[in-house]
Order: sequence, then C-alpha cells, then structure tokens
Amino acid sequence: MPLKAELHCHIEGAAAPELVIRQAQKYGKDTSPYIQDGSFVWHDFSSFLAAYDFSSDLFRTEEDYARLADHYLTSLARDGAIYSEIFTSTDHAGKAGLSPKAYTDALGEGMARAKAKTGIEGRMIVTGVRNAGVESIEQAARFAARCGHPLVTGFGVAGDERMGDLEDYVRAFEIAREAGLGITVHAGELMGWESVKAALDHIRPARIGHGVRAIENPDLIRRIADEGVVLECCPSSNIALRVFDSFADHPFPALQAAGCKVTLNSDDPPYFRTSLKREYDIAAEHFSMNDKALAAVTRTAIDAAFVDRKTKAMLLGRLDVKGR
Ligand code: ADE
Ligand code: ZN
Repeated sequence: MPLKAELHCHIEGAAAPELVIRQAQKYGKDTSPYIQDGSFVWHDFSSFLAAYDFSSDLFRTEEDYARLADHYLTSLARDGAIYSEIFTSTDHAGKAGLSPKAYTDALGEGMARAKAKTGIEGRMIVTGVRNAGVESIEQAARFAARCGHPLVTGFGVAGDERMGDLEDYVRAFEIAREAGLGITVHAGELMGWESVKAALDHIRPARIGHGVRAIENPDLIRRIADEGVVLECCPSSNIALRVFDSFADHPFPALQAAGCKVTLNSDDPPYFRTSLKREYDIAAEHFSMNDKALAAVTRTAIDAAFVDRKTKAMLLGRLDVKGR
C-alpha cells in the first residue's frame, strides 16, 4: 500500500455521520432531513451545502472541534496517510459563537492529539466561503495573516463558485500572500475552464482546488503544466456532484498525461461516500495506476505542501524509505 498525503479536505465536511448524530444528540437537533440510514442525503450542490452547513453547526465548542480533527486525522493515518492539510472555516465557527482563534487552536489541539498517536503531520488552510461575501473572505484572510498559529500555512477560497467573481477576492489573497501563506483557490469544479483561467490571471495560486474543468481548453492545460500549478483533484466528489458522469469520463489521467501536476483528495469524504484510501483505490482501478504511479502522486502532494522545508524533507525521506 503506497503512503498517502492529502491537500484538499474541508474539516467540517470530514465529519462522519455517526459523529454528526452524536453531536446532534448533544445539542438536541433532529438529523433526519440530512442523514438517513447512516448516510448524508442531498441531491445537488445547493442541498449538499445545506447538509454540510447543518452538520457544521453541530460543532460548537473547542472540544467538539478538537475531537473532529483528531477523529479525521487518526482515521487518515490508519489508511496510510503521513500528511494532511485541512481547510478550516472561521465563518462556520463564528456562527457557533467561537472566535477564529479559539476554533483554530482547538483544531490544532486535535491535530496534535492525532500526531501523538500516529505520527501524521498536519497543517491548516484558512478558507473564506464565497457564498458568505467579499468582506467575510477578507476577514478570514486578515485572521490567517495575523493569527501566528504554527500550523496555519495557507489561505484559500471555497464555497459556491457560481457566486461572486474571482477578481473580487484579489485583496484577500494579497493579504495572505504578503503574510507568506500558500495560496489555493477552488475553481473549475461547478464552473468551466474560464474560472480556472480567471484564477490563474487574478489570484496566481500555487494550487487550484479541483481545476479539472481546465480539460475543456487545451491552451489552458498547457499553461497549467508550464506554470507548474498543482491540481487538487477529488474524483469521487466530482462524480457525486455530477461534474462528470463517471470515473471513465474523469480527466485525471488526461491532465496527468498532458504534464499537469495532479494529486488525489477526498474533499468532503462521507458526503461523497469516499475516503482518501478510496480515492487511491479508484485511481488504481479506473485510471490504471500501479503502486509506483500512486507513490508518485503522493510525492507531488508533498512537494506542493504548504509546509516548512525541514518538515517537507522529513516527509519526502519517509517516502524514499518506503520506496526502497
Ligand atoms: N465546500 C465544501 N466542499 C466544497 C466543494 N466541493 N466545493 C466548493 N466548496 C466546498
Ligand atoms: Zn473543496
């Protein structure tokens, strides 16, 4: 089994249904509209976000968030992951009355617990949510830039791509970039290749969340390859949200063959009935990747990680030992 690394997972979206049900019991909420027969129910992107927001609202205290991060990273490590970057959302925590600092410290505590048990390294990417508006995204960027938490190493924007314009977020990304944070932005998931081009033109990210609809434009694919921008691909998420009809139609192999740097990620694993391990299994089964090819994907992820040089060298060393 190749070692794994993940760059794209929303921590609130990683909460397993059992954990959400437990939280709902704690806070006296009815999960039945959103969880049925042990699985999340939704039918399109908007109802997915509704289920996601409902579940997120059930994480309210520092201990709730510490347990969530510990639970997710520990499960990831058991599946062979040595590194995990989680997207954090200060907006969601704010709704629960938790300050961005308390929320971030709590997630950091959970990550430390998971690392103590399993050795998994983790970092946080603070994300603004498009559907929350430009001011809220800039607020998230200002927090990311000044929080000083040692595990906060990146800034990104997620949420409903159909809302707002990437140009509106330039200021937020500049605040984060000036603070030395790594930059990633969701694009080319719900919207077409134009959104990926706009991300490259206006935001100049090191990585793009999804970016897979770049496949619609050969010039853009060449540009992504030439500029070395890394694509955080999430195949099961794309099939579940009907970005593509089937794994056979997924552009992961084509993007890789065109020279783009691609990685494998779970996005919001239980919502898409997946896990990082399953994404690697899918790549083996549907994209004909052997263990060596999968190990190379892990190496691409570590190379692209928003992590200090020393930690990166240590992680790459672990891959080398395993590959020998
Ligand atoms: N937030 C959580 N999951 C997301 C996704 N797949 N796309 C955009 N925003 C998200
Ligand atoms: Zn995402």
